[in-house]
Amino acid sequence: MKIRHLFLLCLIAISATLSANGKTVIPITTDDISLIYKVDDKNGRLYQSYLGQKLSFDSDIVQLPLGNEAYLTHGMEDYFEPAIRVLHNDGNPSLLLKYISHENKQLQPGVDETVILLKDDKYPVEVKLHFIAYPKENIIKEYAEISHQEKKPVTLYNYASSLLHLNGSKYFLTEFAGDWAHEVNMKETELAFGKKMLDTKLGSRANMFCSPFFLLALDRKAEENAGDVLFGTIGWTGNYRFTFEVDNENGLRVLSGINPYASEYSLKPNEVFRTPEFIFTYSTEGKGKASRDFQRWARKYQLKDGEKSRMTLLNNWEATYFDFNKDNLIAIAKEAAELNLDMLVLDDGWFGSRNDDNSGLGDWKVNEEKLQGSLGDLISRINALGVKFGLWFEPEMVNEDSDLYREHPDWAIQIPGRKPVKGRNQLLLDFSRKEVVDAVYEQMCQVLDQGNIEYVKWDMNRSMAEVYSMTAEEQGSVQYDYMLGLYDFLERIISRYPDLLIEGCSGGGGRFDAGMLYYTPQIWCSDNTDAVDRVRIQYGTSFGYPVSAVGSHVSAVPNHQTGRKTSLHTRGVCAMAGTFGYELDPAKMTDEERREIREQIVEYKKYAQLVQNGLYYRLSNPFAEEIGAWEFVSEDGKEVLVNVVMLEIHGNMTVNYVKMKGLCVGQFYKDSNTGKIYPAEALMEVGIPMPLEFGEYKAYQIYLEMVE
Ligand code: DGJ
Repeated sequence: MKIRHLFLLCLIAISATLSANGKTVIPITTDDISLIYKVDDKNGRLYQSYLGQKLSFDSDIVQLPLGNEAYLTHGMEDYFEPAIRVLHNDGNPSLLLKYISHENKQLQPGVDETVILLKDDKYPVEVKLHFIAYPKENIIKEYAEISHQEKKPVTLYNYASSLLHLNGSKYFLTEFAGDWAHEVNMKETELAFGKKMLDTKLGSRANMFCSPFFLLALDRKAEENAGDVLFGTIGWTGNYRFTFEVDNENGLRVLSGINPYASEYSLKPNEVFRTPEFIFTYSTEGKGKASRDFQRWARKYQLKDGEKSRMTLLNNWEATYFDFNKDNLIAIAKEAAELNLDMLVLDDGWFGSRNDDNSGLGDWKVNEEKLQGSLGDLISRINALGVKFGLWFEPEMVNEDSDLYREHPDWAIQIPGRKPVKGRNQLLLDFSRKEVVDAVYEQMCQVLDQGNIEYVKWDMNRSMAEVYSMTAEEQGSVQYDYMLGLYDFLERIISRYPDLLIEGCSGGGGRFDAGMLYYTPQIWCSDNTDAVDRVRIQYGTSFGYPVSAVGSHVSAVPNHQTGRKTSLHTRGVCAMAGTFGYELDPAKMTDEERREIREQIVEYKKYAQLVQNGLYYRLSNPFAEEIGAWEFVSEDGKEVLVNVVMLEIHGNMTVNYVKMKGLCVGQFYKDSNTGKIYPAEALMEVGIPMPLEFGEYKAYQIYLEMVE
């Protein structure tokens, strides 16, 4: 036997099997969490006994009650929402899953996997439950693989990624709903008997109305720094559904996965249906710790190059919209160079016959007339100024007024005999078909090969309404296959251009999910660049994503969404809570403003590492308080950046003290502006007073370093 195989076998053999009163026990643990399954040896079925704070002693685990069925099936004695519902090809609608085996292995240092195999005792159907634990980050990922060896296809009606059982006295669910330009608002509701669902049917722009993550507090409302909280999200860009069901015994069942609405899947014999990953953490120190654990994990394991430093950029969209040519792009690039920005991004309108949003999508051929020459030439000139170059695409879309549509009308998703539903005058290409993905991929590569393109903005400006593929055998699988087609496209792009940074976008944050972040580690957070609105949007976003994923730019005033005027300083402070850039024409700014922008960029570059990879603390709730305040602390606790924005003013105001978090107790910190030195305890227990002359929308940034 080869040594490599021997090593693998050793890893597989690290099995954490315990036995409790004749029951096999399967613990899945991180540094702070235990998720415990038990097999009832009388009936051979798998039960979830516990989820919560880590249980360190086997004696505690042995005492746990059996709990509820782990992956509930339809057709058995439990009356609540099943994790899986199938129809066998003989018409039998039931499934009874029994435990067969489980194994543990280390996937890589710091990442452990447990796989539990379940099989029906009458039909050749099996389910493998995968749990991948990241002990240090306190994250567990769960997904299921479903397969069978029946003679004909089996229909899957429900196929959850995860079913978790919780036991509290009360349950409070926080959902993050919104819409275009006011994404990720927050609402907390107490759950009572019955079901509450968070879901979407918007297809490939799934999280436009409701973000694909939630917070669930046990016993009392969620607090920032205390209490038991489950945070969950799904690594899937399509329709999702989270179902929260309080049962007759006041237990809570949390079912997570693809939204099964109009998505029955015909599973062929020996084909494996793999669900997306449900990713969760459980915190006993409130939602703040849950977010920091998740953000740290996402940077390290989920985002492509998640810990790499990001480029500052200037995007021409709000500066020119469709109205640009080579000369004004070079002029903007010169401004970017003078301001010391890393990159110019050329947004929509450089291809096909696209001079407004009615035509051209699908024709990814450079409009050399508009660019007064080749794309390669434009890029070389911009690079010669010391500025990198990025380019906008919307690969999944087609306009009826395009060569691609004229040639292949059947490549668009639309229902035969019905007037097509359009969103922003465009149709969706059928990415469930490989030939469609191949053709767009080829076009895109031909453009990317024309010069030194270091960044792509991958836009997506409509939802999936009429789901129908002209070639699909079963329409129920079209949305699932579309997502696999999209991921395949992205996979090919990142393999061919490994250093390319892709920023996702969907009219802003319409497509912000843990699945997409694997390919697009940065996402344009909102088309709303109003600094005050952004404080709230970015606050909501911080519950689901790391700061480095949040595309955040300074734009001109009055703001084009709200008409509000805020100072350049305030806009800068707000945009520094993400990957930083500008959406404006610097040539239209005064010399004084340009000088301030130059200083702002120097400042941001000083803090960039801390902002992108530091620990993020929410110091206020901007939906409920007068101030928006947040803080970045380096992992070693030596550097701190506090940001405060005054959201409201009124007469006879009392002083706002901003209490810091995460400092090293017993140490002293020096304020770099004033030179004053404070003990960590004073900064955390009393806080820093905001100046009384502080006015509406004023912003304040304090950088402190530990005194060595
Ligand atoms: C929507 C995006 O959110 C904008 O930033 C811009 O890229 C436009 N699309 C271009 O059409």
